[in-house]
Amino acid sequence: MKAVILCAGEGTRMRPLTYSLPKHLIPIANRPVIEHILETLKQAGITDVGIVVGPNTQTSFQNALKDGSSLAVRITYIVQENPRGLAHAVSCAQGFIGEDPFLLYLGDNLLEEGVRGLVEKFERSGADAVITLYPVSEPSHFGVAQVEEGRIVKLVEKPARPVSNLAIVGAYAFTPTIFAAISRIRPSTRGELEITDAIQRLVDDGRLVLPYQISGWWRDVGRPSELLQANAQLLEGISTRVEGVISRDCAVDGEVVLGKHSRIRNCTLIGPVMIGEGASCLDSKLGPNVSIGDEVMVKGATVSESIILTGAEVEGVAISRSLIGRGTIVKKSRAKEVHSLLLGDHCRVELGDD
Ligand code: G1P
Repeated sequence: MKAVILCAGEGTRMRPLTYSLPKHLIPIANRPVIEHILETLKQAGITDVGIVVGPNTQTSFQNALKDGSSLAVRITYIVQENPRGLAHAVSCAQGFIGEDPFLLYLGDNLLEEGVRGLVEKFERSGADAVITLYPVSEPSHFGVAQVEEGRIVKLVEKPARPVSNLAIVGAYAFTPTIFAAISRIRPSTRGELEITDAIQRLVDDGRLVLPYQISGWWRDVGRPSELLQANAQLLEGISTRVEGVISRDCAVDGEVVLGKHSRIRNCTLIGPVMIGEGASCLDSKLGPNVSIGDEVMVKGATVSESIILTGAEVEGVAISRSLIGRGTIVKKSRAKEVHSLLLGDHCRVELGDD
């Protein structure tokens, strides 16, 4: 079985970070989102993977993942020239899929239980499609499915009046019959070719379309709050491993991973905390649920529930629920009540009183 991961989305909800880094390459627990997904696919026995990228992001993906061999997968890059919807992105991968069954995975979804159960149900059942579902409290934000007698009978994209509380999760298994269904749908009211509408076509044609309900957590990491929650959930599983130096004047509680050549001095660490290589943390309080990338400098700061990317500097401030981009500097202003800011488009800054 092959897999297609859709990564052509522009990540508008994560700007300005996504102007320079596709959301799928943002690290959580110090590994890009896409690498977590590739691990999940491997656990389900899938190593032949097509990644659908946008024309502007192709190089970033190729630089990060190359041909996939370092992760023991084989990657084919497929460019979606125009963003015309998920079903259109899937149709771009038709040449790569050929006559094989395949797993379709939306590159901003992370599932705690992975996709092994989905793949097993698909292979066992002989269905033309198996769709992953998850009960949610606000289904109108998602595609929604109605299930009767163990089959999916209706699917609606972002319905105003949902037919059930079962949201469609971004992991689907298909036979190549989906391509003919895609060729017969029209753009939705939001102007996109929806994969949800193509699956409805399969149902209308009398094809066997089955649900697969997952347990455990599901996150759409295209939103900053969800990304930080996924970071916390992945950090829950870490075990202490210290390759750098934590000096004796530090207090450590909980699990801490520290990469090579990193130095922690006079800090309080409240795990889980993950710190990359060559980082330096001084006179600070870090954690819980903090991921710090390589070559980061933290000094006199308090950091919790946050992700700080490679080469950033955080000094003299207290931050929480924050996502700090590569090489970004956050520091306390010397002048009282005056803040000096150099910000790009769509930044978000919350400044407290002194
Ligand atoms: C897409 C699908 C939707 C699904 C969701 C899951 O929506 O169209 O059916 O529920 O992914 O993340 P989008 O996030 O592209 O609006």
